[in-house]
Amino acid sequence: MVIIRSKMFILRPYKRGDEASLRKNINNKKIYRNTLRIPYPYTKKDAHFWVSCNLKFNKEKKKSEINFVIDIEDELVGSIGFSKIKGHKAEIGYWLAEKYWGQGIMAEAVKLATKIGFKKLKLKRIYATVFSSNKASMHVLENNGYKFEGIMKKHYKKNNRFMDVHLYAKVK
Ligand SMILES: CC(C)(COP(=O)(O)OP(=O)(O)OC[C@H]1O[C@@H](n2cnc3c(N)ncnc32)[C@H](O)[C@@H]1OP(=O)(O)O)[C@@H](O)C(=O)NCCC(=O)NCCS
Repeated sequence: MVIIRSKMFILRPYKRGDEASLRKNINNKKIYRNTLRIPYPYTKKDAHFWVSCNLKFNKEKKKSEINFVIDIEDELVGSIGFSKIKGHKAEIGYWLAEKYWGQGIMAEAVKLATKIGFKKLKLKRIYATVFSSNKASMHVLENNGYKFEGIMKKHYKKNNRFMDVHLYAKVK
């Protein structure tokens, strides 16, 4: 897996030792509400499990998922990656510690990850599913050339509620 340095952060693979900062920064109701797979409260066990999953993903010959740590000053402050990697397409997903919101960090991370997706992973379609209320995430995608493709009604079920999602995609 590659390591990418930008002015604001480093994108690098997960490593043992990330668990504490992962838990500290992800354990936030606002992050939980806007995402599908992130639990709240986020326990020590969740952090250990997620780092283990990523160490395993990184060893897979044919990768089903690839996640990068967004690292600022040797601390995991967020993550961005590709899941559901199937042939020429994959889904992009991301989160960032609240104290760093609004500084253009995710706009830059999506730009770099998208480049990796098309160039290194040879994807032809990268898509994102965003809850209808998540305007910040939609902005990040639009600013990176992702196009709105429509609303998928009741696409996910979260906490016994069916959620509409906005589908965005960028193709090469
Ligand atoms: C979504 C998220 C990753 C954005 O990260 P970020 O680093 O703050 O994003 P950026 O600063 O690069 O860009 C945010 C954009 O959204 C806009 N924005 C922020 N809050 C907004 C709101 N409530 N309504 C409309 N636009 C908003 C900003 O103005 C900016 O757009 P601009 O550059 O065109 O002005 C971050 O808020 C987050 O982690 N949220 C919780 C998890 C999540 O939603 N993950 C994505 C699931 S699809």
